[in-house]
Amino acid sequence: MNIIEVNNLTRRFKELVAVQDVSFNVAQGEIFGFLGPNGAGKTTTIKMLATLLKPTSGEAKVAGFSVIKDRIAVRKSIGLVFQESTLDEELSAYENLRFHAEFYGVPSSTYKQRSLELLQLVDLAERAKKKVRDFSGGMKRRLEIVRGMLHYPKVLFLDEPTIGLDPQTRATIWQYILKIAKQQGITLFLTTHYLNEAEYCDRIAVIDHGKIVALDSPDKLKERVGGDIITLTTDHNGRSQEFISEHFTKDVRIENDQIVAIVRDGNQILPRLVRELPETVKSIELKQPSLDDVFLKLTGSKIRDEAPSAAERSKRFLRARGFKR
Ligand SMILES: Nc1ncnc2c1ncn2[C@@H]1O[C@H](COP(=O)(O)OP(=O)(O)OP(=O)(O)O)[C@@H](O)[C@H]1O
Ligand SMILES: [Mg+2]
Repeated sequence: MNIIEVNNLTRRFKELVAVQDVSFNVAQGEIFGFLGPNGAGKTTTIKMLATLLKPTSGEAKVAGFSVIKDRIAVRKSIGLVFQESTLDEELSAYENLRFHAEFYGVPSSTYKQRSLELLQLVDLAERAKKKVRDFSGGMKRRLEIVRGMLHYPKVLFLDEPTIGLDPQTRATIWQYILKIAKQQGITLFLTTHYLNEAEYCDRIAVIDHGKIVALDSPDKLKERVGGDIITLTTDHNGRSQEFISEHFTKDVRIENDQIVAIVRDGNQILPRLVRELPETVKSIELKQPSLDDVFLKLTGSKIRDEAPSAAERSKRFLRARGFKR
């Protein structure tokens, strides 16, 4: 069963088309990722699915409800973790959860027990009564993630759940996210521009300039690169490139003073290549394609693996609070 159905969803901001004619489905229980660089349209899509932003055209259903016609029903069915933190720093972890539960009308007999369980799930039980102000970035993020599921949503939207955290904390957060998905059976819809994190998803939609350019499982996406990647340098790269193109693969290019060749069965090709190349090989490396390579192949550019700049963040902060600039 599809818990999310999106048909030709489009959102414009004046002349800018932030999301363009996007269609996809998400199955119940799936971990579905939106992968794309800054400004690709990830947050805009989430906001439309969460009924926080009206689509310019198109339609989407979440948990069977229209994001245009049944907004209240959609809101009750979802949990939302924003890109920017929305915790109350002056309250304790538990109080933050209680606030949320009351807002959603979860009865106290339910949320008290559930809060403790969820805090345990992300190893914050001991900090339940401590003020959030003194939490680390990773702890705050964990708290926000479980807060988003306190009211038993069917779908939890996570916009950049690990943004701005160090790689180790990011990995830990992911362990929690995967545990939650498994134990609670919630469908997760998340965005990221970290390619290595997209690997955790069941399926990924690659989005660039507001359009979905590919949608598949990480493995299937990697197959699209068309083989293994051999990177080498020789004492004459130009001549070597020609030789490789003639004898091994047409898919060979020079990039940053290195020859990059895509071959089937790299393990067998590599020793033959070293033996047969007329030029002396100075360095050579074989790797399986990563999502970086997929992204490069699909969009022709490398994903900018970075958090939004301070200026962009402050612009968004003001925008989110109703200021134009
Ligand atoms: N309220 C708004 N008014 C005007 N333009 C907007 C608004 N919200 C988003 N945009 C623009 O729409 C485009 C898509 O933005 P969006 O926030 O969806 O990108 P994103 O993929 O979430 O990027 P990031 O990885 O930086 O979070 C950007 O060019 C952005 O500047
Ligand atoms: Mg965003």
